[in-house]
Amino acid sequence: MSQIRLDKYLADAGIGTRSEIKSYIKKGVVSVNDITIKKPDIKIDSETDTVQFQNRIVQASSYEYYILNKPAGYVSATKDNTAPTVLSLIKSSRKDLFPVGRLDKDTEGLLLITNDGTLSHRLLSPKRHVDKTYYAIIEGIISNEDISAFENGLIIGDEDLNIAMPAKLSVLKTEHFPKELSYIEVTIHEGKFHQVKRMFKAVNKKVIYLQRISFGTLVLPKDLASGSYRELTDTELASLKNCC
Ligand code: URA
Repeated sequence: MSQIRLDKYLADAGIGTRSEIKSYIKKGVVSVNDITIKKPDIKIDSETDTVQFQNRIVQASSYEYYILNKPAGYVSATKDNTAPTVLSLIKSSRKDLFPVGRLDKDTEGLLLITNDGTLSHRLLSPKRHVDKTYYAIIEGIISNEDISAFENGLIIGDEDLNIAMPAKLSVLKTEHFPKELSYIEVTIHEGKFHQVKRMFKAVNKKVIYLQRISFGTLVLPKDLASGSYRELTDTELASLKNCC
């Protein structure tokens, strides 16, 4: 038997915040075993009782995991007053989803969206150094000295915490005309604010396009169009949970 307060059961299932749920219960749209309940604090048995919200059965807490190919122009936050958020791209009845970490508004690519706070905490922990790989287009030609500077770790600001750990920088191709451009991949092991852009700035270069292509064991699928998302496969989820 697993006893739990009705309002917590509904909150864990992503129906809304505790206060939203209290008002739903007061309105009489929640039932337990077909009996309308008007008290949020009654205890239910989450294994045997049938809870319904607006006549639909509410499953006990379940986590959701999505891989999103973030387009430019979307903010990696749950709310924003100036621009659409990445969550506006996800069609789910859950209200507790959030992006794991942040990509800048103009950065594209792989973003994990979930409601699993424990996994998110682990993946973002500064102690774990989860690898993140980015594809980028850089103004200028990347030199061997730049590659060594990335390999040795860079100072990317004035404060103590602004030393970026060694990172692997590979040049995929360069163009010299009409403009000098380098197409690169870089793998970093931290997630400092604007880290990739600041690392290139530290070697006097400018990032003009940035896309995350992997995060831990998760890889951005080639067939996932910009703005699209899908659930993680069981294998992707298991690897992510074990990797870091
Ligand atoms: N580094 C950046 O500079 N921006 C991002 O969005 C991610 C990493």
